[in-house]
Amino acid sequence: MNLRRSPNVFRYLALSGVLALSPTVRGQTPARTHYPPVVHLTAAQDHARMMRLLGIQRLRPGADPNNPNSPNAPNYDEAKARRFKKLPDPLVMDNGNPVRTHTQWWLERRPEIEQAFTEDVYGRIPDDVPAVHWRVVSQRREVRGGVAVVVKQLQGHVDNSAYPLLTVNIPVTLVIPANASAPVPVMIHFAFDPVLLQRFLAMAKKRGFKLPPPPKGPSWKQQLLNRGWGYASLIPTRVQDDNGAGLTQGIIGLTNHGQPRQPDQWGTLRAWAWAASRTLDYLQTDKAVNAHEVGIEGLSRFGKAALVTEAYDQRFAIGLIGSSGKGGAALYRRNFGERNGNLAGTGEYHWMAGNFMKYVGPLTANDLPVDSHELIAMCAPRPVFLSSGKPEVEGKWLDMTGEYEAGVAAGAVYRFLGKQGLSSAQIPPIGTALLRGDIGWREHHGGHTDIPNWPAFIQFAGKYFK
Ligand code: GCU
Repeated sequence: MNLRRSPNVFRYLALSGVLALSPTVRGQTPARTHYPPVVHLTAAQDHARMMRLLGIQRLRPGADPNNPNSPNAPNYDEAKARRFKKLPDPLVMDNGNPVRTHTQWWLERRPEIEQAFTEDVYGRIPDDVPAVHWRVVSQRREVRGGVAVVVKQLQGHVDNSAYPLLTVNIPVTLVIPANASAPVPVMIHFAFDPVLLQRFLAMAKKRGFKLPPPPKGPSWKQQLLNRGWGYASLIPTRVQDDNGAGLTQGIIGLTNHGQPRQPDQWGTLRAWAWAASRTLDYLQTDKAVNAHEVGIEGLSRFGKAALVTEAYDQRFAIGLIGSSGKGGAALYRRNFGERNGNLAGTGEYHWMAGNFMKYVGPLTANDLPVDSHELIAMCAPRPVFLSSGKPEVEGKWLDMTGEYEAGVAAGAVYRFLGKQGLSSAQIPPIGTALLRGDIGWREHHGGHTDIPNWPAFIQFAGKYFK
């Protein structure tokens, strides 16, 4: 058939995808020409675009952690941290009515809180996110620290037939004890991309940085295996890149067919949490896993994502929330260390919904309908463990006190549901774990890591897991 002389046949074949299988005609791939191309913007361009969409001229600046003499130096004075009004009450409806029954919490107040976080803080996930197809790429047996394990390399492929210009895969490594007599609990871990990690380590070595020695004793992964539990390492940045320029790609870009996002749409934290939820979908199909005993762990920006994961997806049984700071457990209504202005700036706005910028000019955190204690409360009655390093070592930027105060305030909802919050209203001495309540806590002596808190967390999880 002479395609050039049969334009209608040509169009039919192109649209039905047949031509896409054959070599390009005159150097083009006709089947793809009807997809809008991926928009490429820098983070600064996309950020400016979002401000225009919101009609915002100016944002209050974030704190500058590098210059103590700057007018924008971070505040580290507790007395000045409390210039915000009191927190919204998680047990009072927006219309002022108190929440009196559990039904009211589940059917009215909790959805109200969730809606507010979705609209103004973390963003809405579009209804038509394509399906994920899981595949076991490889499977092998190994012995790790004397424990026989099965290591499965998994890949969740996101159906991109509606927009083939972008490909999104969720990479997960699942490691579980091989000889368990019953399905095992699994901790999903937000892992740093090993490729990026290698690059970072090479750079650190070149610049002569001395990295701290690995902590003594079994690794946290080995501790889980020794206990008879498993873990799943998920690399969230392969699903959604950690910058504003990436918002037209990854899972957010795929659902928007390569176009920039709207102010109410999801940011990167929810995209990472989405990836954790899809990983749990897979785990629910794996007979070796007890899907009722799956938790989520993350540190720092991944700690924020871990809290968002547990708060939104009630299938998660527990969370280890490491040094999550602003945008995670730390209260927005505090000015200590990192500011809301940092979250709304070009380096971090992609974590949040565009709408969050409104609260950094003209509005303030006082206008936010929610605060982070209510994100923790969304986890109730499920247990959640807040982990921090020593502020003098880790840096006060992450506002440990703000995280603790949020934990204390979330306790009201835990008690309302017949559980307990943090078992102390005051931050306990460093190194002392709070394990009695359903909100756990530990501040360790080291820096920006949650590794020293794994033993306490495992003990805490042991109250709930068989
Ligand atoms: C920055 C950022 C924090 C974040 C941290 C991290 O310090 O301001 O909000 O938690 O990076 O992810 O390491």
